[in-house]
Amino acid sequence: MKSDRATRDVGILLGGIAAGIVGSRLLPPLIAAAVGSGRARAGGDPFQVLIEDHRQIHSLLDQMVKCPTSSRLQRARLFLALKRKLAKHALAEEDVIYPRVRNDSASGNERKRLYDDHAEMKIFLYEIEGLLRSGEDWRDAVRLLRDLVERHVEEEEKTIFPELRRELAAPILPQVSGQISREQALIL
Ligand SMILES: [Fe+2]
Ligand SMILES: [Fe+2]
Repeated sequence: MKSDRATRDVGILLGGIAAGIVGSRLLPPLIAAAVGSGRARAGGDPFQVLIEDHRQIHSLLDQMVKCPTSSRLQRARLFLALKRKLAKHALAEEDVIYPRVRNDSASGNERKRLYDDHAEMKIFLYEIEGLLRSGEDWRDAVRLLRDLVERHVEEEEKTIFPELRRELAAPILPQVSGQISREQALIL
């Protein structure tokens, strides 16, 4: 009798937790994490999502350089798309990838440099937003941001991601992939 009640109480508790998850905004990130893990379990490369982001970020920056200063609506649309994409991408790298980068004297504090690059990109975004608001030419600032992004992406794709692919044990990869998807789903 007593154990029946205990089982029921546990059931109510679990039901409450499940309802809380369904009713909250935690559900999309949890689904995204499951989808990401499944992709890596199926043999997918967890870094591929981030590499695709790099291509999209590069394309947005190119479009921003070409966009005439007089096209205010188009400039605003491009800026918001870049800001959102960079935010999602940075959250995943800063919370999932960079903490796993080796940080010893031989690597010259590589990890800290990666975080610093992202901070610098955010300062550029702030400046570019100011130019957008005042209707000024943003091309020089966007080119500088594009140069920084290109250098940073090259380091990630040629050094950081290949190192982690070699160093991370195969059973960890689905977990990494799930965490990347979850972090990206936190930003709508
Ligand atoms: Fe990065
Ligand atoms: Fe990246």
